[in-house]
Amino acid sequence: MKIKVLGSSAGGGFPQWNCNCRNCDGVRRGTLKATPRTQSSIAVSDNGTDWLLVNASPDILAQIAATPELQPARRARDSGIAAVLTMDAQIDHVTGLLMLRERDTPLPLHVTDSVWQDLSTGFPVTSILSHYCGIERHRIALDGNALTVPALPRVRIDALPLASKAPPYSPHREAPERGDNIGLVFTDAASGKRAFYAPGLGAIEPHVYEAMSDADLILVDGTLWTDDEMIRLGLSKKTGADMGHLAQTGAGGMIEVLDSIDRPNVRKVLIHINNTNPILVEDGPERRLLAEHGIEVASDGMAFEL
Ligand code: MLT
Ligand code: MN
Ligand code: ZN
Repeated sequence: MKIKVLGSSAGGGFPQWNCNCRNCDGVRRGTLKATPRTQSSIAVSDNGTDWLLVNASPDILAQIAATPELQPARRARDSGIAAVLTMDAQIDHVTGLLMLRERDTPLPLHVTDSVWQDLSTGFPVTSILSHYCGIERHRIALDGNALTVPALPRVRIDALPLASKAPPYSPHREAPERGDNIGLVFTDAASGKRAFYAPGLGAIEPHVYEAMSDADLILVDGTLWTDDEMIRLGLSKKTGADMGHLAQTGAGGMIEVLDSIDRPNVRKVLIHINNTNPILVEDGPERRLLAEHGIEVASDGMAFEL
């Protein structure tokens, strides 16, 4: 199984178009040792040709252009993206669906019922796309059964409900529904290796911890270093908890959670990194601290083979 990081940043990207925080300003001017990143997405394949796009970012076109594997060019109109799955209905994970409208067959889309509802009401992408390629709906039932994704016959995909948040535009933002956010476990049928992926993770519930602990690759929410980071920088009124993102530091934070997992050869990688997060500074103390804990920071183009 191959996993390719297409976008390792949170919503807004890095640098964010209107942001002049230390990180965004520094990377723009070249005065900071940091690397730009596009918005949250990965692609998964078992044969290296047919890919499941997991989250359709607003930066999808740039991501495709940067990823030759997604462009097999077998026909006049063609793409390696065989199907799409979105793990929530957040803008950074679904806007790219509109960019895939030139397909000549309906776009296979795997989503939970609650995400489908948001994409049919608050942000009616499904009805917009019905005037273009259309969508072939695949329900993620959250009934304990593995998903069936025809393009990836040798990868088992399990979805788990997560405590996080529906998007701000969602009719049920303040009344969470099961399926607003999911985590995914990808298991390679041949190697038996597992990857856990959750770019938005607000709390470590027991079933989540179990899935994380069993994974050989943990690709997990790296949005914020401190819960009140955006408030302290004067950039937002929301904490990480308000947005459904568990911060790295503090009691019960992501570093502590990852420290408690000691599976041999496990890789622990933070992804969906907000542009304010000091871990983006490659020669900074926060990055050194992560390294001491054996935790990596995802970047665009990073690839894993499991
Ligand atoms: C989030 O996960 O909270 C998002 O990145 C927010 C957004 O896309 O605006
Ligand atoms: Mn996001
Ligand atoms: Zn910024």
